[in-house]
Amino acid sequence: MASVRIREAKEGDCGDILRLIRELAEYEKLSDQVKISEEALRADGFGENPLYHCLVAEILPAPGELEEPCVVGYGLYYFIYSTWKGRSIYLEDIYVMPEYRGQGIGSKIIKTVAKVALDQGCSQFRLAVLDWNKTAMDLYKALGAQDLTEAEGWHSFCFKGEAMRELAGR
Ligand SMILES: CC(C)(COP(=O)(O)OP(=O)(O)OC[C@H]1O[C@@H](n2cnc3c(N)ncnc32)[C@H](O)[C@@H]1OP(=O)(O)O)[C@@H](O)C(=O)NCCC(=O)NCCS
Repeated sequence: MASVRIREAKEGDCGDILRLIRELAEYEKLSDQVKISEEALRADGFGENPLYHCLVAEILPAPGELEEPCVVGYGLYYFIYSTWKGRSIYLEDIYVMPEYRGQGIGSKIIKTVAKVALDQGCSQFRLAVLDWNKTAMDLYKALGAQDLTEAEGWHSFCFKGEAMRELAGR
């Protein structure tokens, strides 16, 4: 039987990661927002000072099978700093292809992020989810996450391109 492996992404995985980033954006009905290129993913994640880290979930063929390992999910994270809690991780994306969902792969990715966080001296990792995405929210809650919007009332803000340029006077 095929098995699943969660491993750190390599530069050569950027094509697969971009494919899955696009699938996630489509699922979130926000495809038009994806402007990232494979080149940018390569440069930003695999240069001298990586701006992000990525875990990929790979299906390994059973011994004797001829297929290549196949990337079916990913979790992309980076380090942030909390003035209250210090070193922290932000899990930007987590995605598993539809046909591989419900088999524990998403939970495995999240558990691996928790291990990385502890290994790196972090006391927490954060993530955001759209308000209609009940499946994902139920999973995070089941794994022990706290809904900060519910508990503390946070709203997420962003200065996007034009607004930011105006602020910067450029
Ligand atoms: C959220 C997501 C990453 C979870 O990955 P996953 O591999 O399905 O996660 P798991 O199998 O570990 O757990 C999923 C839970 O949903 C249940 N489930 C059952 N069938 C399912 C299905 N077809 N699809 C999704 N979840 C299913 C599982 O049983 C499990 O619940 P349980 O822990 O009570 O058994 C995945 O569903 C996904 O990519 N969703 C679309 C993108 C998304 O919402 N990303 C998160 C954005 S914040």
